[in-house]
Amino acid sequence: METSVQPDKLLEVKNLKKYFPVTKGTFRKVTQQLRAVDDVTFDIFRGETLGLVGESGCGKSTLGRTVLRLYEPTAGKLSYNHQDITNLPMSQLRSLRRSMQIIFQDPYASLNPRMTVGNIIGEALQIHKLFPDKSSREKRVLDLLSLVGLRPEAMQRYPHEFSGGQRQRIGIARALAVEPKFIVCDEPISALDVSIQAQIVNLLQDLQEQLGLTYLFIAHDLMVVKHISTRVAVMYLGNIVEVAPAKALYADPKHPYTQALLSAVPLPDPTRKHQRVMLKGEVPSPINPPQGCKFHPRCPQVMEICRHQAPPLISIGEGRQVACHLYPPKA
Ligand SMILES: Nc1ncnc2c1ncn2[C@@H]1O[C@H](COP(=O)(O)OP(=O)(O)O)[C@@H](O)[C@H]1O
Ligand SMILES: [Mg+2]
Repeated sequence: METSVQPDKLLEVKNLKKYFPVTKGTFRKVTQQLRAVDDVTFDIFRGETLGLVGESGCGKSTLGRTVLRLYEPTAGKLSYNHQDITNLPMSQLRSLRRSMQIIFQDPYASLNPRMTVGNIIGEALQIHKLFPDKSSREKRVLDLLSLVGLRPEAMQRYPHEFSGGQRQRIGIARALAVEPKFIVCDEPISALDVSIQAQIVNLLQDLQEQLGLTYLFIAHDLMVVKHISTRVAVMYLGNIVEVAPAKALYADPKHPYTQALLSAVPLPDPTRKHQRVMLKGEVPSPINPPQGCKFHPRCPQVMEICRHQAPPLISIGEGRQVACHLYPPKA
């Protein structure tokens, strides 16, 4: 057998859970748990883009925030750069915060409207005590603006003076200010006009190449992550149900949920016959998820076992994993 270089794991996530308490009544007694992330295991390799897709409410944003330690994990283990960060105290989180950043769906909501763009980007530098004197800080902000394709004049302007795409560039510049290695991109183009979505994706790809970044790229639409992803993970109700190299996933989706997500994508030619596997109903509540395989009430290929036994995520070769009782196929 050939010996190949093992790709380096930048992020290792093991049996991660994030539950939110559900409270009732005047005394806010905790009556139930909302299982937003419910036992998730995966790795992200240095330099790759892992696409994370699933319908709204499946737990993608919660997962993205929990791996950054913006949310405290309920259970499980997180390693970043070969260091266990699961219980890293707040005092030690500072350097981690520099290395791991997040870009949000709605840059406008996350940009302070009363601050100039220069101050928004410069603030991150100040917090991390980078470029302490004003003139070197300004120089750095100008470099960042140019890096994301904004003109130097942007520095003195306010967020409302920019278009959606430009605001997202500001959000990206702010994230890049502290020289991160890993960025969670949480639906960074979902709120943008279709005409400018590709520009932002291209920018993120160029930046990845130039700066050697690693991305977790979240989207609810499989088509959005098709070209940017090295691998894709599909999430359903708090679980990862399929992971595969991007090409393989689009060519031959294994999980019925992935198949349904892919066929729900509107075809570009309206005269072409639609062969859609429509998803029945909506994502059930993560407070009382279905027993067995959580997808079984909506699954077109449901079997008896699916109603009472949750399928584990198993390897099926070629770097692919799937959590479905149809696998491995019976001989
Ligand atoms: N801070 C929170 N407190 C309580 N419940 C939350 C919180 N954030 C998300 N949830 C719930 O967790 C589930 C997953 O949400 P989210 O991670 O935002 O999904 P997605 O990003 O895939 O749309 C949803 O049921 C949502 O209502
Ligand atoms: Mg989300």
